[in-house]
Amino acid sequence: MAFIVQNLSFQHANGTRALRDVSLVAKAGECIAVIGPSGSGKTTFLNLLATALKPSEGALTVLGSNPWRISKSALRHLRSQIGLVHQAPPIPSRQRVITAILAGRLGQWPLWKSILSLIYPVDIVGPQRCLDRLELSDRLFERCDCLSGGQLQRVGVARVLYQAPQLMLADEPVSAMDPVLSDLTIRQLIEDAASRNATLVASLHAVDIALRWFPRIIGIREGEIAFDLPSSEVTETLLKELYASEMGVLPTQAPVTT
Ligand SMILES: Nc1ncnc2c1ncn2[C@@H]1O[C@H](COP(=O)(O)OP(=O)(O)O)[C@@H](O)[C@H]1O
Ligand SMILES: [Mg+2]
Repeated sequence: MAFIVQNLSFQHANGTRALRDVSLVAKAGECIAVIGPSGSGKTTFLNLLATALKPSEGALTVLGSNPWRISKSALRHLRSQIGLVHQAPPIPSRQRVITAILAGRLGQWPLWKSILSLIYPVDIVGPQRCLDRLELSDRLFERCDCLSGGQLQRVGVARVLYQAPQLMLADEPVSAMDPVLSDLTIRQLIEDAASRNATLVASLHAVDIALRWFPRIIGIREGEIAFDLPSSEVTETLLKELYASEMGVLPTQAPVTT
């Protein structure tokens, strides 16, 4: 199993209950899209799977371990096998693209190599290959603050491709991209997961992209699972109910100028 979530709840420090009694299981190699209106708990859910947040209640097993019951070194190893693509990648603005991508393997390398990689590119071919897959071939030595939002998102995706973790998590990874680049990027994530039998969980704002690419769709509403179904069984009615708070308007991938 890639992960097992049992009666998981999460409450933010200010008392907001972002997730309530969520239970689900994912097998290794599954590709799952998490959809739902803004504020429904998608980011919180991914951060819990990433072990960036600790559950308030319930149990969580990720890649065979309970992250909150293992030693620090075991947790460090576990985290090196989990990759999270943030919606807005937290990349230091002066950093070069290659350094940002190399950072994907910091958790897997010995300390000396990690430190060296911040000063000098310890690998050029690997990051270049990841960028090639995302139509960013010529940006390897560019500074990240010279990139558009959509390009920066693809650098975040390139980093996780380079990390090649067992569990890939992506939080609205294509929200700043046009439909063509969105499809290209999601396809690379799906193909990469399939080639390594890794598990992919992506939250998506755009329902059309979720249904087109992902065999399993989880709808979250107000912190609870509204449905968990094969994409072929997700009906218009279910989607309208899911997005009732947004007047039943289903968000699709809007053309963005980048
Ligand atoms: N750091 C935080 N502190 C307090 N409340 C938060 C925080 N982050 C998110 N929330 C609240 O938790 C709920 C779920 O948020 P989030 O997981 O970001 O949803 P989504 O990603 O689906 O938009 C929302 O009500 C949101 O306002
Ligand atoms: Mg979010």
